[in-house]
Amino acid sequence: MSTIESVHQSLRERPRTWLITGVAGFIGSHLAEHLLALGQRVVGVDNFDTGKRDNLDALVRGAVGRGACEVEAHFEFRELDVRDPEALRQACARFDGVEHVLHHAAVASVPRTLAEPETAHSVNVDGMFNLLEAARACGAKSVVHATSSAVYGDCPGAPETGAQSEAIIGRPLSPYAGQKRIAEVLGQTWSTTHGMSVVGLRYFNIVGPRQDPNGAYAAVIPKWIDTLARGEQPVIFGDGLTTRDFCPVEDVVQANLLASTWHERADADARAMPGDPSEGVFNVGLGGRLTLLELFELLRDGMADRGVDCRAMQPRHEDFRAGDIRHSRADVSRARELLGYEPAMPLDTSLRATMEFLAG
Ligand SMILES: NC(=O)c1ccc[n+]([C@@H]2O[C@H](COP(=O)([O-])OP(=O)(O)OC[C@H]3O[C@@H](n4cnc5c(N)ncnc54)[C@H](O)[C@@H]3O)[C@@H](O)[C@H]2O)c1
Repeated sequence: MSTIESVHQSLRERPRTWLITGVAGFIGSHLAEHLLALGQRVVGVDNFDTGKRDNLDALVRGAVGRGACEVEAHFEFRELDVRDPEALRQACARFDGVEHVLHHAAVASVPRTLAEPETAHSVNVDGMFNLLEAARACGAKSVVHATSSAVYGDCPGAPETGAQSEAIIGRPLSPYAGQKRIAEVLGQTWSTTHGMSVVGLRYFNIVGPRQDPNGAYAAVIPKWIDTLARGEQPVIFGDGLTTRDFCPVEDVVQANLLASTWHERADADARAMPGDPSEGVFNVGLGGRLTLLELFELLRDGMADRGVDCRAMQPRHEDFRAGDIRHSRADVSRARELLGYEPAMPLDTSLRATMEFLAG
């Protein structure tokens, strides 16, 4: 039995209570859907900054579709802001206290953290502090928080493969990167000073249904699918040779479950990484590398196969965006070895599901 299968089994045998921040967003809604399907109790919180009520309905439908029972009794949504410590503390006290916290609420766009520095800092840094304190007050056993490959900044990665491994990071190239790094350090500090299990998951570029295609700060995949569906030309910032490690959201769910239960499989000594500035931090990606031009061709051909008249479409190039990293690729060996992470969802399946979701 794989590690994730045994985690699923133990969660089914002893259902727990989970707090998910950012539950109305892309990744948060998938986490809630999977946990409800495993019979867990979920307290979901969000302030609808970028999150959608539709995602709450979709996660409930998805959970029921996956065989979840009594979803009304097991899922509680609270509209709150992670900048409000008291509201977070109350949410953590639900169902006799949450055992696991998955912190995903954030200002999650690089350009927006440049355009709205105060809001971004207070949500991404103060929100993390509030969350850690709320988790500590309710005696939560674990906190997993979403950090980002943006933390690697100008670190070129390994000479042969360009893959980034956790212990070596570069300078942050945006407020977003700096704030995610601060959040990692806060997590490590609460872990060493309060003995909590706090794990940071450095997501690379996550793919799947429910990622928002609209607005100035939309992620590239949903935005391009939406643009192609309207018969318009997607914009590539730069020459298109920028590379990314695109990773299906199902693998992110897997990584969260493994990280949340890590302390049950490894004691504090086994989890310690003395002298490593990235202790308790894990890359979550596929370990692959796709140029933006290759991604464009995959999406264009996929949409053309779905009947959109775009087979000959070419992208429009604009200047590079401030704060964007040139190449990013995950070395996932630490997550594999210590957490038992095994990416399982093929990228093209995930891209097809995303096209299906957005373009019908
Ligand atoms: N999607 C990716 O490729 C990716 C990559 C790296 C890191 N991440 C991180 O993963 C997490 C989830 O990202 P996502 O793609 O699902 O983004 P998202 O924008 O879809 O979800 C973020 C959610 O947080 C909520 N939120 C924002 N500010 C809040 C506040 N003050 N109080 C309560 N809720 C608030 C939003 O309304 C939204 O529902 C974020 O922390 C993001 O930085 C995502």
